[in-house]
Amino acid sequence: MAAAEKPPSADAPRDAQGAPALHVAIVMDGNGRWAKQRGLPRSLGHRAGVEALKRTVSAASKLGIGSLTVFGFSTENWSRPAAEVAELMALPKRYFETDLARLHREGVRVRVIGRREGLSGELLKLIDDAHARTKDNTAFNLNIAFNYGGQADIVDAARRFAEDVAAGRRAPSDLDEALFAGLLATSGAPPPDLIVRPSGEQRLSNFLLWEAAYAELVFQDVLWPDYGEEHLRAALAEFAARDRRYGAIVADDVLAAG
Ligand code: FPP
Repeated sequence: MAAAEKPPSADAPRDAQGAPALHVAIVMDGNGRWAKQRGLPRSLGHRAGVEALKRTVSAASKLGIGSLTVFGFSTENWSRPAAEVAELMALPKRYFETDLARLHREGVRVRVIGRREGLSGELLKLIDDAHARTKDNTAFNLNIAFNYGGQADIVDAARRFAEDVAAGRRAPSDLDEALFAGLLATSGAPPPDLIVRPSGEQRLSNFLLWEAAYAELVFQDVLWPDYGEEHLRAALAEFAARDRRYGAIVADDVLAAG
């Protein structure tokens, strides 16, 4: 295997829960086009997307990734036809029914992030059960962004802070980046190192806007239902070749400047 293709090693840094620290986020895009290319209804594209999610979770864990955050339903997806929204709402239920027990056995901590408003009581119960059942798992973190929007999440966090100020629990001067990050749906999780978007589109589409500050972005020309280990390996290879500086300059430049 070429150096750039090497997955993160087993002795890579660990997060506070003991899982490997590398965090990859994916915009699972292209289900509709995949279905259209085959003359199938969009619903079958979404179902094939769930199979791609299963393959990708296994591949991510095998390749030494510690956390995977996937975009399953955006706050903007409510504007799709009612039948498609109903199909999308049914996916996590089906996924948890068929896969949660196995994920739990494999040590996966499952978290669903996003607004609760608008989700059915049945789905909320499944989400709460999945959280409660897997909360102490440390082998791998699977975060499913569902009814999630980066802007909505920032607005919700700002509102919570404003309410705390109005109630006298906090002062405006308390606010800094760390405190604000703690008010977001992703609170407690490391920010993504790498955000991947398949399907050829090159935008974030309201995914993890705050958290993406220093993420590397990789865009891939594959529709999500076709996604699997080889595509994740290719994204990691591209990530490994990047030079992450977090606004600083590289060591060689420091030496040259001195
Ligand atoms: C965007 O593709 C994808 C979605 C809106 C849904 C993604 C959801 C899954 C892949 C399954 C999620 C599984 C769980 C368990 C939540 P699109 O439909 O916009 O595709 P298009 O751009 O080709 O039309």
